[in-house]
Amino acid sequence: IRVKGAISMANETARSIGPVILLGPPGAGKGTQAKQIVDRYGIPQISTGDLLRAHVTLGTSLGLEAKAIMARGELVPDELLYGIVADRLREADCRRGFILDGFPRTAAQAGWLDAFLEKEFFENSEMCPPVVIQLQVDYTQLLLRLTGRRSCPTCGRLYNIHFQPPRVDELCDLDGSQLTIRDDDREEVISGRLAAYEDQTKPVADYYRVKGRLVPVNADQTMAEVAAQVFGVIDGHTSDCKPAAES
Ligand code: AP5
Ligand code: MG
Repeated sequence: IRVKGAISMANETARSIGPVILLGPPGAGKGTQAKQIVDRYGIPQISTGDLLRAHVTLGTSLGLEAKAIMARGELVPDELLYGIVADRLREADCRRGFILDGFPRTAAQAGWLDAFLEKEFFENSEMCPPVVIQLQVDYTQLLLRLTGRRSCPTCGRLYNIHFQPPRVDELCDLDGSQLTIRDDDREEVISGRLAAYEDQTKPVADYYRVKGRLVPVNADQTMAEVAAQVFGVIDGHTSDCKPAAES
Protein backbone atom coordinates (compact mmCIF):
# COMPACT_ATOMS: atom_id res chain seq x y z
CA ILE A 1 0.00 0.00 0.00
CA ARG A 2 2.82 2.34 0.87
CA VAL A 3 4.48 1.74 -2.53
CA LYS A 4 1.19 2.34 -4.34
CA GLY A 5 0.74 5.61 -2.38
CA ALA A 6 4.24 6.68 -3.32
CA ILE A 7 3.56 6.02 -7.01
CA SER A 8 0.29 7.96 -7.04
CA MET A 9 1.98 10.82 -5.17
CA ALA A 10 4.78 10.84 -7.78
CA ASN A 11 2.13 11.12 -10.51
CA GLU A 12 0.51 14.05 -8.73
CA THR A 13 3.76 15.97 -8.88
CA ALA A 14 4.49 15.19 -12.53
CA ARG A 15 1.28 15.82 -14.46
CA SER A 16 -0.20 19.14 -15.54
CA ILE A 17 -2.55 20.68 -12.99
CA GLY A 18 -3.18 24.14 -14.46
CA PRO A 19 -4.31 27.23 -12.58
CA VAL A 20 -6.15 26.60 -9.30
CA ILE A 21 -7.91 29.75 -8.16
CA LEU A 22 -8.93 29.90 -4.49
CA LEU A 23 -11.80 32.28 -3.93
CA GLY A 24 -13.27 33.11 -0.55
CA PRO A 25 -13.67 35.81 2.07
CA PRO A 26 -10.91 36.87 4.48
CA GLY A 27 -10.29 34.00 6.88
CA ALA A 28 -11.95 31.36 4.68
CA GLY A 29 -8.75 29.30 4.66
CA LYS A 30 -7.26 30.17 1.25
CA GLY A 31 -3.71 30.25 2.59
CA THR A 32 -4.24 27.13 4.69
CA GLN A 33 -5.64 25.11 1.79
CA ALA A 34 -3.05 26.50 -0.64
CA LYS A 35 -0.32 24.97 1.53
CA GLN A 36 -2.06 21.58 1.41
CA ILE A 37 -2.25 21.80 -2.39
CA VAL A 38 1.45 22.73 -2.62
CA ASP A 39 2.35 19.62 -0.61
CA ARG A 40 0.16 17.27 -2.63
CA TYR A 41 0.58 18.52 -6.18
CA GLY A 42 3.93 20.29 -6.08
CA ILE A 43 2.68 23.51 -7.69
CA PRO A 44 3.50 26.91 -6.15
CA GLN A 45 1.22 29.11 -4.05
CA ILE A 46 0.94 32.68 -5.30
CA SER A 47 -0.63 34.84 -2.61
CA THR A 48 -1.03 38.46 -3.63
CA GLY A 49 -1.49 39.34 0.06
CA ASP A 50 1.90 37.75 0.88
CA LEU A 51 3.55 39.44 -2.12
CA LEU A 52 2.16 42.84 -1.11
CA ARG A 53 3.18 42.35 2.55
CA ALA A 54 6.72 41.51 1.36
CA HIS A 55 6.79 44.79 -0.60
CA VAL A 56 5.56 46.68 2.48
CA THR A 57 8.31 45.09 4.62
CA LEU A 58 10.98 45.89 2.03
CA GLY A 59 9.70 49.46 1.67
CA THR A 60 9.54 49.34 -2.14
CA SER A 61 7.53 52.04 -3.96
CA LEU A 62 4.70 49.53 -4.42
CA GLY A 63 4.87 48.69 -0.71
CA LEU A 64 4.71 52.37 0.22
CA GLU A 65 1.63 52.82 -1.95
CA ALA A 66 -0.09 49.69 -0.67
CA LYS A 67 0.69 50.02 3.03
CA ALA A 68 -2.01 52.49 4.13
CA ILE A 69 -4.64 50.90 1.87
CA MET A 70 -4.01 47.46 3.35
CA ALA A 71 -4.00 48.86 6.89
CA ARG A 72 -7.54 50.14 6.24
CA GLY A 73 -8.64 46.75 4.90
CA GLU A 74 -9.37 48.13 1.42
CA LEU A 75 -8.29 46.62 -1.88
CA VAL A 76 -5.12 47.86 -3.53
CA PRO A 77 -5.87 49.35 -7.01
CA ASP A 78 -6.01 46.71 -9.76
CA GLU A 79 -3.18 48.25 -11.81
CA LEU A 80 -0.71 47.80 -8.96
CA LEU A 81 -1.34 44.04 -8.94
CA TYR A 82 -0.88 43.21 -12.61
CA GLY A 83 2.90 43.67 -12.73
CA ILE A 84 3.66 41.53 -9.67
CA VAL A 85 1.26 38.77 -10.71
CA ALA A 86 2.56 38.67 -14.30
CA ASP A 87 6.19 38.56 -13.13
CA ARG A 88 5.45 35.71 -10.73
CA LEU A 89 3.44 33.66 -13.25
CA ARG A 90 6.30 33.89 -15.76
CA GLU A 91 8.65 32.06 -13.40
CA ALA A 92 9.57 28.53 -14.44
CA ASP A 93 7.91 26.78 -11.50
CA CYS A 94 4.45 27.82 -12.78
CA ARG A 95 4.55 25.85 -16.05
CA ARG A 96 2.71 22.77 -14.65
CA GLY A 97 0.24 24.89 -12.77
CA PHE A 98 -0.06 27.24 -9.82
CA ILE A 99 -2.41 28.25 -7.01
CA LEU A 100 -3.76 31.77 -6.95
CA ASP A 101 -4.62 32.76 -3.38
CA GLY A 102 -6.28 36.17 -3.15
CA PHE A 103 -6.23 36.96 -6.87
CA PRO A 104 -8.39 37.82 -8.76
CA ARG A 105 -10.58 39.75 -6.35
CA THR A 106 -12.30 42.22 -8.65
CA ALA A 107 -14.12 41.53 -11.90
CA ALA A 108 -11.49 43.64 -13.70
CA GLN A 109 -8.70 41.44 -12.29
CA ALA A 110 -10.57 38.31 -13.43
CA GLY A 111 -10.82 39.70 -16.99
CA TRP A 112 -7.13 40.65 -16.96
CA LEU A 113 -6.17 37.16 -15.75
CA ASP A 114 -8.15 35.41 -18.48
CA ALA A 115 -6.47 37.52 -21.15
CA PHE A 116 -3.02 36.92 -19.62
CA LEU A 117 -3.48 33.14 -19.32
CA GLU A 118 -4.82 32.88 -22.84
CA LYS A 119 -1.84 34.71 -24.28
CA GLU A 120 0.96 33.29 -22.13
CA PHE A 121 -0.22 29.80 -21.16
CA PHE A 122 -2.94 28.36 -23.34
CA GLU A 123 -2.04 29.36 -26.88
CA ASN A 124 0.80 26.85 -27.18
CA SER A 125 0.40 24.49 -24.30
CA GLU A 126 -1.76 21.68 -23.06
CA MET A 127 -2.11 23.07 -19.59
CA CYS A 128 -5.44 22.34 -17.89
CA PRO A 129 -7.94 25.23 -17.92
CA PRO A 130 -8.47 27.10 -14.63
CA VAL A 131 -10.57 25.62 -11.86
CA VAL A 132 -12.05 28.06 -9.35
CA ILE A 133 -12.69 26.72 -5.86
CA GLN A 134 -14.95 28.88 -3.75
CA LEU A 135 -14.41 28.34 -0.01
CA GLN A 136 -17.68 29.03 1.77
CA VAL A 137 -17.61 29.80 5.49
CA ASP A 138 -20.16 31.17 7.93
CA TYR A 139 -19.61 34.79 9.09
CA THR A 140 -19.20 34.01 12.82
CA GLN A 141 -16.62 31.34 12.02
CA LEU A 142 -14.71 33.82 9.84
CA LEU A 143 -14.40 36.24 12.74
CA LEU A 144 -13.01 33.52 15.02
CA ARG A 145 -10.55 32.44 12.35
CA LEU A 146 -9.29 35.98 11.77
CA THR A 147 -9.09 37.16 15.37
CA GLY A 148 -7.44 33.86 16.41
CA ARG A 149 -4.90 33.68 13.58
CA ARG A 150 -1.19 33.66 14.36
CA SER A 151 1.66 33.10 11.92
CA CYS A 152 5.32 32.28 12.12
CA PRO A 153 7.50 35.11 10.74
CA THR A 154 10.29 32.60 10.02
CA CYS A 155 8.60 29.67 8.22
CA GLY A 156 5.15 31.12 7.43
CA ARG A 157 3.22 28.33 9.18
CA LEU A 158 -0.31 29.35 10.17
CA TYR A 159 -1.90 28.73 13.57
CA ASN A 160 -5.14 29.61 15.25
CA ILE A 161 -5.48 30.00 19.00
CA HIS A 162 -9.00 28.50 18.82
CA PHE A 163 -8.58 25.76 16.22
CA GLN A 164 -4.90 24.96 15.56
CA PRO A 165 -2.98 26.23 18.59
CA PRO A 166 0.79 25.82 18.79
CA ARG A 167 2.10 23.30 21.33
CA VAL A 168 3.61 26.14 23.39
CA ASP A 169 1.60 29.38 23.57
CA GLU A 170 2.64 31.94 20.94
CA LEU A 171 5.70 29.92 19.75
CA CYS A 172 6.10 28.13 16.40
CA ASP A 173 6.14 24.31 16.72
CA LEU A 174 8.73 24.02 13.96
CA ASP A 175 11.34 26.65 14.80
CA GLY A 176 10.34 28.21 18.15
CA SER A 177 9.89 31.74 16.69
CA GLN A 178 7.52 34.13 18.47
CA LEU A 179 4.25 34.04 16.51
CA THR A 180 2.90 37.30 15.07
CA ILE A 181 -0.58 38.80 14.53
CA ARG A 182 -1.27 40.36 11.14
CA ASP A 183 -1.78 44.15 11.24
CA ASP A 184 -5.12 43.84 9.44
CA ASP A 185 -6.50 41.21 11.84
CA ARG A 186 -7.67 43.88 14.28
CA GLU A 187 -11.46 43.93 14.64
CA GLU A 188 -11.92 47.44 13.22
CA VAL A 189 -10.00 46.48 10.05
CA ILE A 190 -11.64 43.06 9.68
CA SER A 191 -15.04 44.67 9.10
CA GLY A 192 -13.56 46.78 6.26
CA ARG A 193 -12.02 43.66 4.66
CA LEU A 194 -15.28 41.76 4.82
CA ALA A 195 -17.10 44.75 3.29
CA ALA A 196 -14.54 44.94 0.46
CA TYR A 197 -15.15 41.24 -0.18
CA GLU A 198 -18.94 41.70 -0.35
CA ASP A 199 -18.71 44.72 -2.67
CA GLN A 200 -15.79 43.90 -4.94
CA THR A 201 -14.98 40.21 -4.76
CA LYS A 202 -18.42 38.60 -4.83
CA PRO A 203 -18.80 39.68 -8.49
CA VAL A 204 -15.74 37.52 -9.25
CA ALA A 205 -17.73 34.44 -8.18
CA ASP A 206 -20.50 35.49 -10.58
CA TYR A 207 -17.93 35.99 -13.34
CA TYR A 208 -16.68 32.40 -12.99
CA ARG A 209 -20.13 30.92 -12.37
CA VAL A 210 -21.29 32.21 -15.74
CA LYS A 211 -18.25 30.58 -17.34
CA GLY A 212 -19.07 27.27 -15.62
CA ARG A 213 -15.77 27.18 -13.73
CA LEU A 214 -16.94 27.84 -10.16
CA VAL A 215 -16.94 24.91 -7.73
CA PRO A 216 -18.30 25.78 -4.26
CA VAL A 217 -16.85 23.86 -1.31
CA ASN A 218 -18.21 23.83 2.23
CA ALA A 219 -15.16 25.16 4.09
CA ASP A 220 -16.91 25.31 7.46
CA GLN A 221 -15.29 22.01 8.46
CA THR A 222 -11.93 20.90 9.78
CA MET A 223 -8.85 21.72 7.75
CA ALA A 224 -8.44 18.04 6.73
CA GLU A 225 -12.08 17.70 5.68
CA VAL A 226 -11.87 20.82 3.55
CA ALA A 227 -8.59 19.60 2.03
CA ALA A 228 -10.19 16.28 1.09
CA GLN A 229 -12.94 18.11 -0.80
CA VAL A 230 -10.45 20.44 -2.48
CA PHE A 231 -8.29 17.51 -3.64
CA GLY A 232 -11.42 15.82 -4.97
CA VAL A 233 -12.24 18.88 -7.05
CA ILE A 234 -8.70 19.18 -8.42
CA ASP A 235 -8.43 15.45 -9.20
CA GLY A 236 -11.80 15.44 -10.96
CA HIS A 237 -10.92 18.53 -12.95
CA THR A 238 -7.46 17.43 -14.01
CA SER A 239 -8.45 13.87 -14.96
CA ASP A 240 -10.48 15.37 -17.82
CA CYS A 241 -7.65 17.33 -19.30
CA LYS A 242 -4.50 15.22 -19.20
CA PRO A 243 -2.34 15.75 -22.26
CA ALA A 244 -3.19 13.10 -24.89
CA ALA A 245 0.27 11.52 -24.68
CA GLU A 246 -0.33 10.56 -21.06
CA SER A 247 -3.84 9.20 -21.28
P1 AP5 B 1 -4.87 38.56 1.85
O1 AP5 B 1 -3.56 38.31 2.48
O2 AP5 B 1 -5.22 37.82 0.61
O3 AP5 B 1 -5.98 38.36 2.95
P2 AP5 B 1 -7.51 37.91 2.89
O4 AP5 B 1 -8.13 37.67 1.58
O5 AP5 B 1 -8.19 38.91 3.75
O6 AP5 B 1 -7.48 36.48 3.45
P3 AP5 B 1 -6.71 35.97 4.69
O7 AP5 B 1 -5.28 35.74 4.36
O8 AP5 B 1 -7.01 36.81 5.89
O9 AP5 B 1 -7.48 34.60 4.93
P4 AP5 B 1 -7.27 33.18 4.27
O10 AP5 B 1 -8.48 32.86 3.48
O11 AP5 B 1 -5.94 33.06 3.62
O12 AP5 B 1 -7.32 32.29 5.59
P5 AP5 B 1 -6.14 31.52 6.36
O13 AP5 B 1 -5.79 30.28 5.62
O14 AP5 B 1 -5.06 32.43 6.78
O15 AP5 B 1 -5.01 40.11 1.52
C1 AP5 B 1 -4.67 41.09 2.48
C2 AP5 B 1 -4.81 42.47 1.88
O16 AP5 B 1 -3.93 42.62 0.74
C3 AP5 B 1 -6.21 42.82 1.31
O17 AP5 B 1 -7.06 43.30 2.32
C4 AP5 B 1 -5.86 43.88 0.28
O18 AP5 B 1 -5.63 45.12 0.87
C5 AP5 B 1 -4.54 43.38 -0.30
N1 AP5 B 1 -4.72 42.50 -1.47
C6 AP5 B 1 -4.34 41.20 -1.58
N2 AP5 B 1 -4.65 40.70 -2.78
C7 AP5 B 1 -5.25 41.71 -3.46
C8 AP5 B 1 -5.81 41.81 -4.78
N3 AP5 B 1 -5.82 40.75 -5.61
N4 AP5 B 1 -6.35 42.98 -5.15
C9 AP5 B 1 -6.34 44.06 -4.32
N5 AP5 B 1 -5.83 44.04 -3.07
C10 AP5 B 1 -5.29 42.88 -2.64
O19 AP5 B 1 -6.96 31.05 7.67
C11 AP5 B 1 -7.38 32.00 8.61
C12 AP5 B 1 -7.27 31.40 10.02
O20 AP5 B 1 -8.20 30.32 10.12
C13 AP5 B 1 -5.90 30.80 10.37
O21 AP5 B 1 -5.65 31.02 11.73
C14 AP5 B 1 -6.08 29.30 10.11
O22 AP5 B 1 -5.23 28.55 10.94
C15 AP5 B 1 -7.55 29.10 10.44
N6 AP5 B 1 -8.21 28.06 9.65
C16 AP5 B 1 -8.08 27.83 8.32
N7 AP5 B 1 -8.84 26.80 7.93
C17 AP5 B 1 -9.50 26.38 9.04
C18 AP5 B 1 -10.45 25.34 9.29
N8 AP5 B 1 -10.91 24.54 8.30
N9 AP5 B 1 -10.93 25.20 10.54
C19 AP5 B 1 -10.50 26.00 11.54
N10 AP5 B 1 -9.60 27.00 11.37
C20 AP5 B 1 -9.10 27.18 10.13
MG1 MG C 1 -4.30 34.35 3.29
